[in-house]
Amino acid sequence: MNQAVNNKLRIPETLRKVKNIVGVFSAKGGVGKSAIALQLAISLKDKGYVVGLVDADIYGPSQAVLLNSEPGELKITDNKIIEPLNKEGISFISMGLISNEKMPVIWRGPMVSGAVMQLLSQTNWGELDYLIIDTPPGTGDVQLTLLQKIPLTGTVIVTTPQNVSISDARKGIEMIKKLSIPIIGLIENMSWFQPDDSEKKYFLFGKDGGKDLAAEYKISLLAQLPLIEKKDNKELHDLDQIKASFETLADKIIELIKKVRSKKVDSIPQTNVTK
Ligand SMILES: Nc1ncnc2c1ncn2[C@@H]1O[C@H](COP(=O)(O)OP(=O)(O)OP(=O)(O)O)[C@@H](O)[C@H]1O
Ligand SMILES: [Mg+2]
Repeated sequence: MNQAVNNKLRIPETLRKVKNIVGVFSAKGGVGKSAIALQLAISLKDKGYVVGLVDADIYGPSQAVLLNSEPGELKITDNKIIEPLNKEGISFISMGLISNEKMPVIWRGPMVSGAVMQLLSQTNWGELDYLIIDTPPGTGDVQLTLLQKIPLTGTVIVTTPQNVSISDARKGIEMIKKLSIPIIGLIENMSWFQPDDSEKKYFLFGKDGGKDLAAEYKISLLAQLPLIEKKDNKELHDLDQIKASFETLADKIIELIKKVRSKKVDSIPQTNVTK
């Protein structure tokens, strides 16, 4: 049996009506994956698409906190299918709703990747235009399982310009390439800080590290996002500045996904995820 058929058989039933699945990856922690995954989901929803968001990070499930979700809100049907929550108009599910923050997570790698797969495949996603997966940091079991078993349309890489982040992002890119999953593009985050009253940009973590990495791998540079001051204790997704950046960023991603899909070949798993 060839690879494409094999992959087709493995697509969980609950993901069959999901048109595009986008994984947000960075091998390095704390570079802004969760913030970017959430803002991308919100921007796509604002453009009129039907969007889902999965927080696949069991060790630090930020989305459940950002979207004020409580485990008690989850509804699981008799046949063990989970109904996603509706948060900001987005279908949302998080590992954080299953393992709450008071419960120390001591699961081993294979158990975690099994749980992430279960979460994705037992959620009643229904018809979605885009499902965004916020992944945990690293290049371990969970990332490998997501890349191998979920029919990703493509991935978005997030890095800061720092050397330590770039070298980790390089590991992530190599892993994704090895598995022949398309990379939609790279977002350089925390690129600079520019005070409101200043003309000067401060390149706190070095300049153009992500841009150069994108050029090295011939990946589209989707954006260089500045560090944004969180005023009045607001989260990033409540700030106009980030919304404005994602207006065009989301359009770029939509266009690049179309390109990725038009280049599809039989050996790439995501070819099967059309309606
Ligand atoms: N451009 C930015 N400006 C200001 N703060 C930012 C920016 N991007 C991310 N942050 C903040 O940095 C912190 C880390 O971001 P986030 O949690 O999204 O990173 P992550 O890559 O998902 O981390 P982890 O690997 O732990 O999951 C958060 O408090 C987030 O709000
Ligand atoms: Mg995160």
